Formats: sequence, C-alpha cells, structure tokens
Amino acid sequence: MYDNILTSLSYGMFALGVKGDHAPTACIVNSVVQVSSYPTTIAVSVNHSNYTNECIKKTGQFTVSVLSENTSGAVIGALGFNSGRDGNKLNNVKHKILMEGAPVIQEDICCWFLCRVVNSVETITHTIFIAEPIAGSEKIKGTPMTYAFYRNKIKGTSPLYAPTYIPEHEELPEKYTCTICKYQYRNSLIPFEELPETWSCPICNAPKSVFRKED
Ligand SMILES: Cc1cc2nc3c(=O)[nH]c(=O)nc-3n(C[C@H](O)[C@H](O)[C@H](O)COP(=O)(O)O)c2cc1C
Repeated sequence: MYDNILTSLSYGMFALGVKGDHAPTACIVNSVVQVSSYPTTIAVSVNHSNYTNECIKKTGQFTVSVLSENTSGAVIGALGFNSGRDGNKLNNVKHKILMEGAPVIQEDICCWFLCRVVNSVETITHTIFIAEPIAGSEKIKGTPMTYAFYRNKIKGTSPLYAPTYIPEHEELPEKYTCTICKYQYRNSLIPFEELPETWSCPICNAPKSVFRKED
C-alpha cells in the first residue's frame, strides 16, 4: 500500500560481502541502517531466498562496502541481479579478501567495515541481521551513493528480492483489512491467501481469520 512512498525515502547503497561455501561472494543491499552508537550496531535486511542470507547465518559475519557515486553501475549489475549460488559473482569485480574469508569491494567505495552478527529477527520474507562493526576503514572517501542516485542517475531498478522491489506490470494483489485495528495487508510477493494460518496482524496480533477482503 505504501510502496511508492517507501521507495522515495532515503537509503544508501552497499555491497554485503560473505564467506561463501566455495568462494567469497557479495550482494547489493540498500537496507543498512545504524541502530545505536553505544555499542555501535547496524541492521540490514536480507531476503530468505538470497544466498547471502544463508552464508551470514552460517558464519555470523559479513562485510559492508559503502558504494560511492563513482562506483560503477556494473558492480551493482554483477552483485545485485545474480546469485552467488550460480557462480562466482566477484570474477569481474575488484576486491580484497579479509582473513575471515569475506570480501571487500575495491571499486571506488567510500569505506568498508567487517560486522559480527549479535542478533536477528525473522520477517515473512527477510531476516533483519543486527550486527556490530568490529574492524574497517578509518576515513570515508567520496560521496556515498544513495538509492535515489541509483534510480535517477544510473537509471537502475530493484530486483525481486530487494525490499524496494515493485512489480511493474503486475496487477496489485487484493487488499485485506484487520477488522480489529484496521491495518491493511497488500503484498505483491506474498498474497494474503498464501500467508500461513498461524500468521497474525503485525499491529494488534489478531489472528489471520479476522481479516476481511476490501472491495
Ligand atoms: C538496488 C538494489 C537494492 C537491493 N537491496 C536488497 C536488500 O536490501 N536486501 C536484499 O536481501 N536484497 C537486496 N537486493 C537484491 C540482491 O542484491 C539480489 O537478490 C542478489 O542477486 C542476491 O544475491 P545472492 O543470492 O548471491 O545473495 C538489492 C538489489 C539491488 C539492485
């Protein structure tokens, strides 16, 4: 329901690096945010279907490379639209590999940090990893790329597993409203009918059965 508003908010652009099963790998995310200063913690939202999610769960670590406005769109193409399950995505992307086995992108990035996961929260489609940066750059170089810069200047789009994905030619699924608190559910990736029966209203916790379809 709020798709167009939410994609207009400000986000950064990052590459999450992980030690894969066979080789280091990385994926693009726009969902890294600072959670707190003391202790310094960040959060990132990673789709359950992304190989990166599985690798973070196995290793408990990941790197964040902060992309700059000078980072080539080809890096986003290589890391944001292919899966590390299907081959080595870093073949044509300059990077270095940390002792921990996770890669750091070396293509005009602003800075990087290595993070250790301290907690996680599961949503229907994504895991939110909460993590502490434990090493990284001491200075920031250049201007961090924003999601708006990526959309407007690079003319990029968001693929299926990005939180900002909006289906362009699909009809919106039906809207269901919670009869208790009036929360409205409409999600292009998981239509209401496909939610498990144990699902409950994220606002008032009422069961799925109290939701009514909007005309
Ligand atoms: C602009 C942009 C933003 C993205 N943001 C996210 C994100 O925040 N979380 C996420 O899970 N995937 C995000 N993605 C999608 C992943 O980068 C993409 O699904 C990738 O192919 C996953 O690779 P993997 O299977 O090797 O992990 C984004 C992609 C793009 C291009």
